[in-house]
Formats: sequence, C-alpha cells, structure tokens
Amino acid sequence: MKYSRIIGTGGYLPEKVLTNKDLESTIETSDEWITSRTGIRERRIAADDEFTVDLAEAAALNAIEAASVSRGEIDLIIVATTTADQVFPSTACLLQQRLGMEGDPAFDVQAVCAGFLFALGVADKFVRTGAANCALVIGAETFSRIIDWSDRRTCVLFGDGAGAVVLRADNSPGLLSTHLHSDGKYKDLLCVPVGVSRNFSKVQAGAAYTTMEGTEVFRWAVKAMSDIITETLDANDMQKDDLDWLIPHQANIRIINAVGARAKIPNEKVVVTVDRHGNTSAASVPLALDQAVRDGRVKSGQHVLLEGFGGGFTWGSALIKM
Ligand code: UT7
Repeated sequence: MKYSRIIGTGGYLPEKVLTNKDLESTIETSDEWITSRTGIRERRIAADDEFTVDLAEAAALNAIEAASVSRGEIDLIIVATTTADQVFPSTACLLQQRLGMEGDPAFDVQAVCAGFLFALGVADKFVRTGAANCALVIGAETFSRIIDWSDRRTCVLFGDGAGAVVLRADNSPGLLSTHLHSDGKYKDLLCVPVGVSRNFSKVQAGAAYTTMEGTEVFRWAVKAMSDIITETLDANDMQKDDLDWLIPHQANIRIINAVGARAKIPNEKVVVTVDRHGNTSAASVPLALDQAVRDGRVKSGQHVLLEGFGGGFTWGSALIKM
C-alpha cells in the first residue's frame, strides 16, 4: 500500500508586525480586550507590494530545502488560499512559474481557514493513487486585504502568512487519514459577501470585507473541531493518549482551549501560535506545524493531528505519523 509522507515543512511571515498597542491608536479597542478575548498579541501584515504568491513562494522554498528534494521531483502543486493574487490564473500557477516548473498540475483550493486540510486531503489522494509522487502543498494568505480596518469586531483577529509541506510517496505512513466536511447552510455567518459575479462594484470600490457572527462561529468552531478529533481517532482505532500533538486552526486561544478541554487533550500537547500570528486562515495550520517541527517539539515518528475550521462552514483534519 502506498502512503504520502511529509518530508519537509516551511513557513513565511511578512516582516511588518502589527501589535495590539498599534491597533489601540486606530480603533476603539485595548490590548487587554484583545488578549483576554482572543489570546492574540500581534499579527504580521504583508507589505503593499507583497502578494499571496510571494508569501507562498517563500514558504515553498523553505519546505523544499527542508525536504532536500529537487524542484524537478515535484509533480503536483496545490495552494490553499482565499486571497488569490488574481481572479485567474490560480496562485498555484503563478507559483509554478516562479519556481521554474512546468507541465504538472498546479491548482488552488478554496476552503477558507480549513483550506490547508482540504489541499492536504486532495494531495494525499493524488499520491496514494499514484497520480503524483511528490506534492507541494501550501496555505498562503494576505487576509489583511479583505479586512475592514475600521471594524474592531474583525480586524483585530486576522494576519498574513504562509506555510508549506512537501509530501512524497512512501511504503509506510505518513498521512494515516484525512477527514473533510462542509455545510453551506452556514454561508452567511462568516463570509466576504461580494465577489466577481456578485456586487463586483464593491470589490472595485475596495470594499470586499470579511463579516462574521463571532459568537455563532465560536460555538460551531469548538463543536466541529472537537467532534472531528473523535472522528479521526476512531477511524484509526486510536485513543487520545496515542496523540503526541494537536495542531488546531489558530483563530482564538479560547476556541483552542475549549477544543482541548472537550477532547481531553492536555495543553502541553497543543501547539499554539495564535498569540504571535493571529488568524492567518489557510496558513495557520501549516505555519504552526512548521514552527513546532523547527523548534524540535514535533519529532519523527510522532502522531500529530492537524485540524481546521472556516467559512462555509468547512472543517477538516489529518492524522499524521511524522
Ligand atoms: O477562522 C474562523 C474564524 N473566526 C473565528 O473563529 C472567530 C470566532 N469568534 C470569536 O473568536 C469571538 O466571538 C470574538 C473574539 C470575535 C468576539 O469575542 P466575544 O467574547 O464573543 O465578544 P462579543 O462579540 O460578545 O463582544 C463583547 C463586547 C461587545 O460590546 P457590548 O455589545 O457588550 O457593549 C463588542 O462590541 O466586546 C465588544 N468588542 C470589542 N471591544 C474592544 C468587540 N470587538 C472588540 C474589540 N475591542 N476589538
């Protein structure tokens, strides 16, 4: 049986740091409110001339180096993003050109904050079926571009960044399983309600902003992200004690703590970056994975559960033997 295995991770954060104190001078908020309600202390913001593909490229190069593969070995690129550079071509195609690659499939996946899990699930299926041998999977966002910076209910939450993994076919696992879900009836609770086909004039006016029913989203995120831990462990006939690390979507420390408490996973086993990154949407999980790999917490042979939750709603998980 063929599996896909993560052989390298990478990450990139834009240089500009936006602290809670900085936000105090532009909107009616406080460091105390943001920290106590969300756990976020600072987030990164892409420079005006920095685009999603730039972030994706930096994270990809980082992951390719860590994986010690040549670019020629990579035969699939999937970019998870909600903030593509252009309507088309896809950010994955723009990245493919940047990396000097050609011919093999490159495409974007759009599942907002769960996007990386969806991209990983698709790439895993390509590799398992033999359709690809070595995949570059990236979550990259310039989410700051779809935020109303005068709306304190949303603007304090999000940031920019990119995370990447290189997957390669292997005879031993690897990715043990991926689990993906969507429920479009919640489409209005977390969205940018304009686009190319609807209310395009708002996009042209620079008013394509994220709107969110925070309390409802919070409640759903906790339920979906705790239930999917059970689903993932059950599918692999594993217990929560078999897990070495939980890497949840980084949206709010209170969501992360509530998920950990419901799933009875101790805080020491949960990777947290939301304090320094904010919510980077599709980049949040691969960025957190990369940090935990690079600082030596996540080690070869350990079991890691990745999970995401986002607009749609969409939610997903992946159980990995590193
Ligand atoms: O990737 C998934 C996407 N998003 C999420 O997962 C986010 C899910 N939701 C949340 O994280 C939380 O609901 C929030 C952090 C967005 C809000 O926290 P909350 O504890 O649910 O606060 P709230 O919305 O109930 O607001 C409490 C108060 C309100 O004032 P009043 O009406 O009680 O007078 C808000 O106007 O806090 C006020 N408020 C703020 N105050 C200072 C809202 N935002 C701010 C702010 N600074 N930035």
